[in-house]
Amino acid sequence: MTRVTIRNERSTDIPARERLLDATLGAARFMKPSERVRDGRFAAEGLSFVAVENGRVVGTLRLWNVNAGLGCPALLLGPLAVATEARGHGIGAMLMQRALREARTRKHGAVLLVGDAAYYGRFGFSAEKTGTLRVPAPYEQHRLLGLELKRGVLDGARGLIRASGDRIPKGLPAFLTGAIHAPTPLALAA
Ligand SMILES: CC(C)(COP(=O)(O)OP(=O)(O)OC[C@H]1O[C@@H](n2cnc3c(N)ncnc32)[C@H](O)[C@@H]1OP(=O)(O)O)[C@@H](O)C(=O)NCCC(=O)NCCS
Repeated sequence: MTRVTIRNERSTDIPARERLLDATLGAARFMKPSERVRDGRFAAEGLSFVAVENGRVVGTLRLWNVNAGLGCPALLLGPLAVATEARGHGIGAMLMQRALREARTRKHGAVLLVGDAAYYGRFGFSAEKTGTLRVPAPYEQHRLLGLELKRGVLDGARGLIRASGDRIPKGLPAFLTGAIHAPTPLALAA
């Protein structure tokens, strides 16, 4: 495997990022619980990343502005995906480390996600402080994980996790935003 670079996503990366998500997650990408929160919003400023190998996008990770209940601004992480043939070389970890470093630099207080503790635990995520938070979609509560970037930020956080990022204006072409919506039956099944 040749050198992999992690860098901020550019608008010209969006078609490749969308192809990668289709290839790695398939239709399930639109049924993920976090998609309910991300749908129709731009990702958080400066917090969309791609992994590039030989000019090809082989990994993607974005963070989204949310409120974790009342009065607790946070970020929601995902989707994280690495091309099947590029897995097991630390690209997922590089994307996570870069995204968390940048989130800290930008003074965000906490990151939330719905995912496997067996993977995300290595980056410090746990369900310790997320038991009183809810995602507005069906999911397993033990998979709602959090990481405080500022100590104590998630203490007492309770209630629904809601999008707080900028809305994507209606009519903006999908190739500019990646805001490709699920076909109606899939959206209903989510
Ligand atoms: C999860 C994913 C991003 C990891 O990418 P990667 O570049 O292979 O990650 P890394 O090389 O940093 O880490 C690989 C390690 O994570 C482990 N791992 C991967 N997915 C895991 C999971 N769901 N649970 C536990 N461990 C997992 C691998 O077994 C491997 O273990 P090892 O280091 O002991 O060999 C990649 O497998 C992927 O794109 N999966 C499909 C999409 C997905 O499930 N995304 C996460 C939810 S949004």
